[in-house]
Amino acid sequence: MWVKELKLINFRNYSNLEIGFSKGINYIHGDNGSGKTSLVEAISLLLNGKSFLASNDIEMIKLDEEYSFVKIKLDNDEVFSFYLTKQGKELSIDQEKIKTLSSIGGRYKLITFLPKEIEQFKISPEARRKFVDQGITLLDKQYLSKLMRYRAILKNIKDSYKNSFSKEYIDVLLTKLVDEGISISREREKFIFRINQELESINKFLTKDKDIKLTYLKDIEIKSKEEYLNEIKNTMSYQEGRLTIKGIHHDDIEIYYGGLKVKEYGSQGQNRTSFIGIKLALASLIKKVCNIDPIMILDDVLSELDQVQQEKLLSTLKNYQQTFITSVTKIQGEVNNYLIEENQIRGG
Ligand SMILES: Nc1ncnc2c1ncn2[C@@H]1O[C@H](COP(=O)(O)OP(=O)(O)O)[C@@H](O)[C@H]1O
Ligand SMILES: [Mg+2]
Repeated sequence: MWVKELKLINFRNYSNLEIGFSKGINYIHGDNGSGKTSLVEAISLLLNGKSFLASNDIEMIKLDEEYSFVKIKLDNDEVFSFYLTKQGKELSIDQEKIKTLSSIGGRYKLITFLPKEIEQFKISPEARRKFVDQGITLLDKQYLSKLMRYRAILKNIKDSYKNSFSKEYIDVLLTKLVDEGISISREREKFIFRINQELESINKFLTKDKDIKLTYLKDIEIKSKEEYLNEIKNTMSYQEGRLTIKGIHHDDIEIYYGGLKVKEYGSQGQNRTSFIGIKLALASLIKKVCNIDPIMILDDVLSELDQVQQEKLLSTLKNYQQTFITSVTKIQGEVNNYLIEENQIRGG
């Protein structure tokens, strides 16, 4: 899977941009604020039709404009388009509208390496859960529907509780929640096991003698369905006007680097290396399971690494059909160099 053409209209700093990319490493350089992140942000819309940066999609519309349009043509000539106004957005594939987000989630395989993700990975359980959920979705689209069902049931329980619905009704919902929860938990367990398997070979070249490893921190251990349900019921509490319920929405992962918890004991560099290793493990897993090379996107990450690590990472990226790397400085080597200047891009 790779991106052949990109067209942007009124997207961030770009009024109108059209560019072709090729297989291999597309190395995009330009001054700070020239529009490198914006360019890869547009490509990353393939992942789930949402910005990886903005909390509100509208931020992507060029200031003083009414709409934003992104068109991405892939190697198989499939065209993904994204049309955004202040009223909402419309996604389509080959002119056909995509009705629900779950029909795009997992369709396009993309692995991002963003400075913000590295930071969030260290401090936010939510970001780590997102990695797990996005990762499983890339391997199996069905997982996203399962997750959305779980969230809907959870919301329904909380609403029903607030509106004093009958205990019997809430019990029915709780039973449904447990079914979905156990199934999701098993998938997460399997996923983390497989990521660890991939990490075994990645560790060998990335970290020398210190291994990167994940453990799954389950909010509830699965013994039996009854015990699972009882644990939820016995710990349900109403605090500060809010119903708290245990379950997979509180799961987390612990990342170990050389046997120590990296978020507590790791240096900045070790946190970064762990993140890179885990993302590479996911890429490798996707390649094996789906038989598709994910598109690799590294925004301002490569230049933060030392020379040796840069070379290691670049040599791994050569195993993938297409990579986008952004940086302030240009590099030499087997890459397609692009320069962004005055809201335009040249090279290739
Ligand atoms: N919605 C927008 N409309 C117009 N300009 C924007 C918008 N969002 C961001 N910008 C500007 O786009 C420029 C490019 O930003 P960015 O892609 O982050 O640059 P880089 O990654 O190269 O440092 C910045 O100058 C930023 O202020
Ligand atoms: Mg940037």
